[in-house]
Parts: sequence; C-alpha cells; structure tokens
Amino acid sequence: MQAMISGIGHYVPEKKLTNQELEQMVDTNNEWIITRTGIKERRILGEGKGTSFMAVNAARRILEQKQIPADEIDLIIVATVTPDMTVPSTAAVVQKELNATNCWGFDLNGACSGFLYALATASQFIETGKHKKVLVIGADKMSSIIDYKDRNTCILFGDAAGAVLLEPTENDDGGIKDFILHLDGRGEKYLCIPAGGSLRPASNETVANRMHYLYQDGKTVFKHAVTGMADVSAKIITANKLNSEDIKLFIPHQANYRIIDAAVRKMGLSDEQVVINIDKYGNTTAATIPLAMSEAYQKKLMKPGDWVVLAAFGAGFTWGSLLLRWALD
Ligand code: UT7
Repeated sequence: MQAMISGIGHYVPEKKLTNQELEQMVDTNNEWIITRTGIKERRILGEGKGTSFMAVNAARRILEQKQIPADEIDLIIVATVTPDMTVPSTAAVVQKELNATNCWGFDLNGACSGFLYALATASQFIETGKHKKVLVIGADKMSSIIDYKDRNTCILFGDAAGAVLLEPTENDDGGIKDFILHLDGRGEKYLCIPAGGSLRPASNETVANRMHYLYQDGKTVFKHAVTGMADVSAKIITANKLNSEDIKLFIPHQANYRIIDAAVRKMGLSDEQVVINIDKYGNTTAATIPLAMSEAYQKKLMKPGDWVVLAAFGAGFTWGSLLLRWALD
C-alpha cells in the first residue's frame, strides 16, 4: 500500500502587491527585484483574516471537486509558520470550518520545507493502513510577519495556500515513492523571527526593536539553498535508479529564481522540466510547492504515471526532496 495524491487545490488572495508599489515603500526598484529574485508581484491577504482562511479555501476546492463529505477526512496536517494563533492549532480552525467531524490534526513547522515534511508524515499514516483520507495543507500569511520597512525581506514574500488529499493505492504507477529530509539547527540564526516565542516573549522592547518580524541573512541562506536543494534532489533520483530524463516535472520551493535555476543546471534538467511561478506569487513559504503543483495540474503538465520530484529548503535549516508518480488524471 502506498499514498497517492488523489486531489489538489489552491487559494491565493486577490490583492496584488507589485514591485512598483514596493518602490514607493522602501529603497528598491523593479529591475533589481526581477534580476535578483525573478519576482514581479505577490498576493496579500489583508487584515482580519488569518492563514486558516486560505487553508480552508484550498481544502474546500478539493472536497467540492471530488464530492467528498468532510466527515470522511481522518487527519488534517497544516504546514505553516504563520498560524492564526499560537494556540490552538490552525488545523483546529480548519477542522471547524470544514466541519470535518471525524478527524484529528495538527500544525507542523518545517518553514519552507513544511509541505514536504507534512506530505512525508501524512504518507506514513496511509501506508500503515491507519487512515484512508488525509488532508495536507501548506499555508502561510507571510505578510503578517514581514517588516515592510526592511527591503531585504519585504520584496520576497507573499500569502497563499495549497492543499492535497492523500488516499491509499495498490497501483504501483502512482503514489509517493520516496523522500529524503534533513534538519540542521546550525542554520537557526540566519533565518528566524527573534522574538515572540518562549525564549523572548513579546515585550515593549521586542516590539520597539522590530524583533517580531522575519530576519534573513539572504546571502548565507542562498548558498545553502542552492547546494541543499540540488544535492538532495539528485540523490533521490539516483537512489531510485532514475536519471534526469526520467523526470517529467521538478517542482521546487519558490524562494528565488536564481536558486531554482542553479539547482536545475546542477541536476541537468531542461527548462521544460521545471515549474516556476515565483514571478506571480513570490515566496509563500509552506504554500509554494502545493500551489505550483496545483497550477501545473490545472495546466495538464503531468499525467498519471509521470515521475515528479519536489524539493525545498528553508529556515532551520530544513531541506529535502520527495519523489512521486503522479496519479491524478
Ligand atoms: O525560503 C527560505 C529560503 N530563503 C531563500 O532561499 C532566500 C535566499 N536569498 C536570496 O534569495 C537572496 O540572497 C536575496 C534575494 C535575499 C538577496 O540577493 P543577493 O544577490 O544575495 O543580494 P545581497 O543581499 O548580497 O545584496 C546585494 C546588494 C546590497 O547592496 P551593497 O551592500 O552591495 O551596496 C544590498 O543592500 O543589494 C542591496 N539590496 C537591495 N537593493 C535594492 C538588498 N535588497 C535590495 C532591494 N532593492 N530590495
């Protein structure tokens, strides 16, 4: 028994934040942003709504599309670094909104690798036979933790959600085949939100020092991301006795066009084999991979039996790759 993706959906807020608008907010320019990152615009959810709003909308699309009653869901995992609240979990809010009355669930913090961590975790509950329907959601409202006075970070991030449904299959031509995941806490200081947790709870001082916003040492993260993502993706391909021509689609985390491009060159893939949508959405953290995969599915870029490699790198450091055979028609 293996776990297959049997449904997929995504949600992006309507409001766009363009490079031209950012030019009015910080000392930056459209050309710098495009050449250094590949980003043209990102989506912003706005006040009064949390990450759960996008997560619920992405999940609903799957349930409606597949006509599945919410009470058939066994487990909901929400990968996010921007929960609605610290307690309870965003999964609890999603469960309530979907009226998924027969499930349990939890949030998973794997930062930009969160969706991969969650997908790997969820697949185990299917493979053991314990669960039949698991919702895996990657969702982040990055605009809630971004300092729109910091040009190093504010140009990079956006808000979105993507979701998949996992179900069991006996068919060898479709399903999650393998994953390789890593964690190295020595990366902690290069990409973090310094305050607001138990180490440095919120105080007047932490607010005054802008310590509740995301901090990133971009250059250091960039170097690790290129090597981490390319190496782990090449490794999963060879470990499964495949080569780069066998891969129909490489769907990487969308943090920077140059990171993706370097990884693609290192892996010997062609441009047709890679999914890139960073120009439209920026870095949406846990949502990038399910969002890109959902758009690729809508564009019919993969068919049942196709080999697909997912890869991510993010805060922690966390990184990894996941190999699957596409199962949805
Ligand atoms: O998803 C989680 C993982 N995150 C990532 O993978 C992100 C990894 N890092 C990156 O994508 C890149 O490092 C950035 C896009 C964040 C920055 O690009 P970079 O090529 O590494 O630029 P840099 O930080 O070395 O900055 C180069 C110059 C600096 O000026 P000086 O010191 O050379 O005079 C910056 O101050 O560009 C300046 N700069 C900007 N200029 C215009 C930095 N941000 C901006 C900006 N607009 N927004």
